[in-house]
Amino acid sequence: MIKGKPFVKWAGGKRQIIDKLIKYSPVEFNTYFEPFVGGGALLFELSPDKAVINDYNAELINVYECLKDEKKYKKMCSELNKYETLHSEEFYFEIRNLDRDKAKFNKMPDYKRASRTIYLNKACFNGLYRVNSKNEFNVPFNKKTKVNTYDGENLLVIHYLLNFKDIKILNCDFEESIKDAKKNDFIYFDPPYDSDTQTFNSYTENGFDKEEQKRLAKVFKELDNRGCYVMLSNHNTKLVHELYKDYHIHVIQAKRNINANGQKRGKVEEVIITNYESGE
Ligand SMILES: C[S@@+](CC[C@H](N)C(=O)[O-])C[C@H]1O[C@@H](n2cnc3c(N)ncnc32)[C@H](O)[C@@H]1O
Repeated sequence: MIKGKPFVKWAGGKRQIIDKLIKYSPVEFNTYFEPFVGGGALLFELSPDKAVINDYNAELINVYECLKDEKKYKKMCSELNKYETLHSEEFYFEIRNLDRDKAKFNKMPDYKRASRTIYLNKACFNGLYRVNSKNEFNVPFNKKTKVNTYDGENLLVIHYLLNFKDIKILNCDFEESIKDAKKNDFIYFDPPYDSDTQTFNSYTENGFDKEEQKRLAKVFKELDNRGCYVMLSNHNTKLVHELYKDYHIHVIQAKRNINANGQKRGKVEEVIITNYESGE
């Protein structure tokens, strides 16, 4: 089976623990739902025939949509070729600053916005996605002289996957995105992390605080009642244990690249929670 892989580096990306996520996933299911898709590590690994993917981040979802659409995909690729040739520190800031003029930015064609998102992700410091209170991308340049936006054949592989499989792409709140989930569907939640101390978790202009974690736990329970397979990953925190005490909590070690100051790298405890017996 040909598999794609994340086309962007994304905070909380799950490539590091992908084997464990596969181990705890159900063997069979109907539709796959990923309400916080980010870079989509598990989506690409499972490569399901039918899926609903979603993220709150409009720029990210626009890239998935351009990867799927034949015409936009082609235009995006030639734009990326251009960016690779023009790449320099000055060019990086020129592209980064396009969102400073909102009226102009909102009129930019989708394929150009998508190319910008991929390019900035590859050329910015640590592959971070961070915007300020005006929703302006503000990550510094990574100072590399070359940028590789395509990652070999990866974009083409994803283009085919999104076309030949039945994949619906949404850009809404997680709760809205699972409203059609039914018995035997599989939902994987990878929300912004909870923390016992306050750390960086601002993925979009909206933060994801403890109240959001509680709202998510209610949705988890509701899907459990519907007869869905539900899996969730998060940090191993007190709140997470309390919210999911009625379910199977598997504690795992993960290496993390992006945290509070964007520099510390180390092992942290994470959990994979399921509402079904799995992978033991
Ligand atoms: C931990 S990341 C997902 C990482 C992903 N699994 C990967 O492998 O790259 C969390 C994602 O949730 C999205 N998000 C935050 N709040 C949301 C909400 N209320 N509804 C839907 N998505 C949200 C963020 O934009 C971010 O992409």
